[in-house]
Amino acid sequence: MSVDVLLGLQWGDEGKGKIVDYLAPKYDFIARFQGGPNAGHTLEFDGIKHVLHQIPSGIFRDNKHNIIGNGVVLDPVIFIDEIIQIEKKFNIDLTKILSISTRAQLISPVHRLLDKILEKNKGDSKIGSTLKGIGPTYQDKIGRHGLRVGEVLSKNFNDKYAKQKSYHDNFLDGHYDQPFFDEEKKFFESIKKIKKFKIVDTEYLMNKNINRGKNILAEGAQGTLLDIDFGSYPFVTSSNTTTAGACIGLGISPNKILNVFGIFKAYCTRVGAGPFPTELFDDVGKKIASNGNEFGSTTGRARRCGWLDIPALKYSIMLNGVTELYMMKADVLSDFNEIKVCIGYNYNGEKIDYFPSSIESENISPIYKTFQGWTSKSNKAKKFEDLEKNFQSYVRFIEDQVGVKINLISLGPVREQTIYIN
Ligand code: GDP
Ligand code: IMO
Ligand code: MG
Repeated sequence: MSVDVLLGLQWGDEGKGKIVDYLAPKYDFIARFQGGPNAGHTLEFDGIKHVLHQIPSGIFRDNKHNIIGNGVVLDPVIFIDEIIQIEKKFNIDLTKILSISTRAQLISPVHRLLDKILEKNKGDSKIGSTLKGIGPTYQDKIGRHGLRVGEVLSKNFNDKYAKQKSYHDNFLDGHYDQPFFDEEKKFFESIKKIKKFKIVDTEYLMNKNINRGKNILAEGAQGTLLDIDFGSYPFVTSSNTTTAGACIGLGISPNKILNVFGIFKAYCTRVGAGPFPTELFDDVGKKIASNGNEFGSTTGRARRCGWLDIPALKYSIMLNGVTELYMMKADVLSDFNEIKVCIGYNYNGEKIDYFPSSIESENISPIYKTFQGWTSKSNKAKKFEDLEKNFQSYVRFIEDQVGVKINLISLGPVREQTIYIN
């Protein structure tokens, strides 16, 4: 019996979806613990590519039960759209294999509208939010007037919605228009449909099953550097994306967690605004973006690209208690003459080797170590020893720097393009 946590160590889009799907056969339950439809987790298998936003990435593996935990903010409209798409494409009945926490918060059209207005009001300092209503929904949760999924079963749901909306009326007055009312209509239609799913106290479901010896994989969304407390604030999301967030977001005590799988790209990307010390603005950055097809899975926006940042990686490993590292998209770095890795920074005139709490592009510049590149022949490797020597040196260098073993190297988006190293 154990709970393992899988999460991103960078700014999101590390390839979490691929690896949850890859590991899912070893687990009985797959559970999302935070975030919402701001996430886009891509899975590729049997010639099919599918992007999941709110549904856990164990959904395509037989006999796995999938859970949307209390830490998640759920948009019922997007959720029902996702369900319809999957049911059409794969002919499976998801009501049987998916449970939603009574305590998960509901994203409503009001939250999406607030997100849009608040972001616009930020002007030049805008975060680059996905505008899915994430921040305003978590604000209502903390403000103690959130609407929870369990409440869709109440006869007074419409009154509860109206009451929550009234908290925002002053601010939103003048913004309620026909498209908003159309969205509200869709919201209520989706609320009806969501009742077909198992809406349960998932904290009991999980703990009972842990006691029965079942295995759970907790699936993180976003990444550690987007964490509300430890990320590059204020350019962050509104939830705790770290291992501690899995305890809060599922109702599991810390001593139940065994392994923490930290997922990172062999380089870095970021979508949206905010500091990014190793960002590349030249042709090398463009080549990484094009090799890695770096466009957001949720918004389609171009992702900013740069070299791997070791101080940031060490910081994320420390915060999460990572026990195994999984290096993703290593194939993207093939056919470069040179590969660089950031091993420290010049920060306010000083050399440092940690990730500071306050970064602005002007006050930080990376210190690099340069490696000789490798060729795309390595992308066909089935085991570590098949990788070219320069590739192997890159892996060993990262392990030496961060003090945690790299147990998995991903060389492409499909399940089979994965090397597991014991
Ligand atoms: P997530 O949000 O962490 O699940 O990651 P995304 O799905 O947003 O972005 C990762 C993208 O890279 C997706 O398009 C994946 O299909 C793709 N991908 C995952 N692993 C690899 C890999 O090892 N190599 C390449 N080239 N693509 C990968
Ligand atoms: P996955 O799970 C990458 C970024 C947004 C923005 C900031 C705040 O696919 O890795 P929000 O919508 O939360 O208000 O946006 O966080 N962001 C992500 N970037 N991957 C994600 O999820 C992200 N979810 C949010 O681009 O900069
Ligand atoms: Mg993503």
